[in-house]
Amino acid sequence: MQDGEQRGPGPGGEPCCGSAATPAQDGERVEGGPGGAPSAARVAIFTDETGWHTRRVRQALARRGFEGRCVDLADCRFDTAASPHGLVIPGFGRSLPRAALVRGIAGGSLEQITKRLGILHALRELGVPVYNDARAIERSVDKAMTSFLLHRAGVPTPPTWALEDEAQARRILMREAAAGHSLVLKPMFGSQGKGLQRVGAVDGGFVPLPPLSTVGGLAYLQRFVPQPESPTAPGFDWRVLVVGGRACAAMKRVSAHWIRNVARGARCVPCVLDPGLAALAEAAAEALGMDYAGVDLLPDCANPYGAQVIEVNGVAAWRGLQRVTGFDIAQALVDDLLARRLGVAVDGALAQVCHF
Ligand SMILES: Nc1ncnc2c1ncn2[C@@H]1O[C@H](COP(=O)(O)OP(=O)(O)O)[C@@H](O)[C@H]1O
Ligand SMILES: [Mg+2]
Repeated sequence: MQDGEQRGPGPGGEPCCGSAATPAQDGERVEGGPGGAPSAARVAIFTDETGWHTRRVRQALARRGFEGRCVDLADCRFDTAASPHGLVIPGFGRSLPRAALVRGIAGGSLEQITKRLGILHALRELGVPVYNDARAIERSVDKAMTSFLLHRAGVPTPPTWALEDEAQARRILMREAAAGHSLVLKPMFGSQGKGLQRVGAVDGGFVPLPPLSTVGGLAYLQRFVPQPESPTAPGFDWRVLVVGGRACAAMKRVSAHWIRNVARGARCVPCVLDPGLAALAEAAAEALGMDYAGVDLLPDCANPYGAQVIEVNGVAAWRGLQRVTGFDIAQALVDDLLARRLGVAVDGALAQVCHF
């Protein structure tokens, strides 16, 4: 459950500290006060995979005097017998992290995902700042809820339908095709551009809706926003990073294919973050209640804003963006977490990143 760059520890991978490497043991050393008080300067980095991102976050935390400990949410558990607060976070003994940054949540069964998100909800209930909060992550992972919240906040986003009635879905498709539109059928919990299909009026023909039984019994359909697609002028998406409510950096993801995820081979190209684009991305992040977000937008000349927001990633990868921007994204995230959520004085927090 994270956004779409290729991940993996690679040659520079680091050992996972605290979770798979050192699973919680009953009778683990007690740290912090008897009531399970937060560890003074330890921040949990929730991730199912360690490597470039987690290394950057740990370095950024270390620069501010904090220790980042990587923990897999799959290894955390509810245990009301083990500690006063009722959680076991491997690597933290009976204490709690001072804060948590969510970098990745492994896919799993509905029950497993519910428990993993439940740990994040529980930390919030215990007063531990979680960045992004579980509620915000849930909103962003659920594409239908994202579309609803963007629409409700008046953020331009393509017309979208999410429904279980196959006959009704086919009627929508026919109506849209008659108006010359194709639709994008997306997995509701999809990421990395996987499983997207264009249906309806495509390239002069008609592509029917597949049986909904093949897509989890749910049709999430979004009007296709056409882009110029040619070898000389390939189309692009924008990715805008919003940190602490402010748009900080942007890039174009350029590809001749209509699906322009980095994981699908799109090229990351630096671009200027103009105020209009920044305002749209900030409004999108606010609509979903995000501490930080990777906002995906498509250019759309037919729209008065010149763009449409299609996705708000609450567990955003930033390696591609870091390649084309001069500031330190991990430091910006850490500084925002420490300054805004923990009240820690961080010199020049965000000053390095927000430049229009
Ligand atoms: N409505 C749309 N119109 C045109 N292109 C789209 C549309 N929706 C998605 N795409 C393309 O597909 C990519 C992946 O779609 P997205 O909704 O972000 O799903 P994912 O979660 O898999 O990244 C987008 O970055 C964009 O390039
Ligand atoms: Mg996307």
